[in-house]
Amino acid sequence: MSKFSVHNKNNINDTNGKKDILNLNLFGIDFKNPVFLAAGVMGETGSAMRRIAKNGAGAVCTKSIGIEKKPGHNNPTMVEVEGGFLNAMGLPNPGIDEYIDEIEYIRKQMKDLNVKVIGSIYGKNEKEFEKVAETIAEHVDLIELNISCPHAGGGYGSSIGQDCNLSHKVVSTVKNVTKVPVIAKLTPNVTDIKEIATSVEDAGADGITAINTLGPGMVIDIESKKPILGNIYGGMSGKAVKPIAIKNVYDIYSAVEIPIIGVGGITTGSDAIEFMMAGASAVQVGTGVYYRGYEIFNKINDEISEYLLKKELKMSDIIGCVHN
Ligand code: DHB
Repeated sequence: MSKFSVHNKNNINDTNGKKDILNLNLFGIDFKNPVFLAAGVMGETGSAMRRIAKNGAGAVCTKSIGIEKKPGHNNPTMVEVEGGFLNAMGLPNPGIDEYIDEIEYIRKQMKDLNVKVIGSIYGKNEKEFEKVAETIAEHVDLIELNISCPHAGGGYGSSIGQDCNLSHKVVSTVKNVTKVPVIAKLTPNVTDIKEIATSVEDAGADGITAINTLGPGMVIDIESKKPILGNIYGGMSGKAVKPIAIKNVYDIYSAVEIPIIGVGGITTGSDAIEFMMAGASAVQVGTGVYYRGYEIFNKINDEISEYLLKKELKMSDIIGCVHN
């Protein structure tokens, strides 16, 4: 598919009313605001998602779901470091067949709150992605492909997202079996993010989420003389990764036409606005929940609205504006 035949990345229907200033339409879907929950942060249960939804998220993303049940790594799976967190959960999940009841429950919980559900999925090849996508598609509003976990190994995660051909194959296979919009979540751990972005767009991706965690990195406890994480190393998230995420969004925006969801160290409305100026149409919040609590979604939305009203701007005025 030509990169110019896909969605207009600035297809935002915002209005001048205070309440509606954050409404947007992306991938043909109406969202009440552009501040979403990132994958993995709150696990995959309906009760956790509902708490986030009640606190103002425009969409919630599940923990990545795979073809089979996975227990995940031994504890500790997360450790705070300067500027953020390292985590290696080991893609724990119940497996797609077991997960259907829960995702249905999540969807019902989100309906009255008008919050969209993004199903994050992973696999080690296009066949696994195909099976999970086919099963989950009718239960979610969008599918996000995790081709970017930095420490998964075994052919999973960034082993796919660091290779244009493998990324293309996964996206085109999933697009063939689903009608819901498909978004590829990319890793910053590549030589040229524009090449990967272009190949997922050519494969038919409806959007791109950028970025997944950096690294992997490692922390050692000098008393026990051992690495802290059960997995020894893990992906870096949080405030320290934000400038890298911004640059990746900036580069991706310059290379593709499909919308970008920015993620990486967003804690405040001004962080979100920065991502939008680099080219993101919406954002996801992950580690920020640890810094500002569940209320972070309402707070960031209020901060974006305040900025837009004060400056007499619409969201569409700021998306990608640094490229002008
Ligand atoms: C895990 C997966 C990710 O994609 C990521 O960025 C961090 C952690 C995990 O489950 O280990």
